[in-house]
Amino acid sequence: MKKSLPFFSFLLLCILPFSSQTGAPKNPNPKPPLTQAHTELLSYGFPIGLLPASVQNYTLNQTSGDFSVDLGGTCKITLPPDNYLATYSKRIMGKIDQGKIAELDGIRVRALFKWWSITGIHSSGDNLVFEVGMVTAKYAAKNFDESPFCEGQHSSS
Ligand SMILES: *[C@@H]1O[C@H](CO)[C@@H](O)[C@H](O)[C@H]1NC(C)=O
Ligand SMILES: *[C@@H]1O[C@H](CO)[C@@H](O)[C@H](O)[C@H]1NC(C)=O
Repeated sequence: MKKSLPFFSFLLLCILPFSSQTGAPKNPNPKPPLTQAHTELLSYGFPIGLLPASVQNYTLNQTSGDFSVDLGGTCKITLPPDNYLATYSKRIMGKIDQGKIAELDGIRVRALFKWWSITGIHSSGDNLVFEVGMVTAKYAAKNFDESPFCEGQHSSS
């Protein structure tokens, strides 16, 4: 009996790392595939989590920075870390530059019992600064490291 214990632990050590990878359907945080729009966000210094996983089409004028992102439908997301409810329109438009998104149209956040349009986003060190008209809110960029699924679309899209 005494000798079997270390062997059993050794077996467990060998098996556990593999068994934890096989349960794909049980994985609470499946990583959605990155679209070109997400990759482009990264190249402009933004985390991919600013765009939901459901990107269907995307255009960018490299010269002017004008972009449009089609999501195939409206999209509801609970934004980290304060769990504000946000809605994304079917089409998001704006102007992107290194570390700066301006003239943003299509993202609204529910706070203080009202819907607010996010008009711009810029990065500031390790933070993202969300602009709502003249008002800004600052969040650590690492909150947006993963691209969220639209609520209610987890399996259907
Ligand atoms: C993608 O968007 C562009 C610009 O709105 C449009 O011209 C193009 O037809 C769209 N492509 C698809 C596959 O929807
Ligand atoms: C891209 O933007 C530049 C500068 O605003 C403009 O001259 C050009 O026509 C645009 N290209 C397209 C394909 O829209």
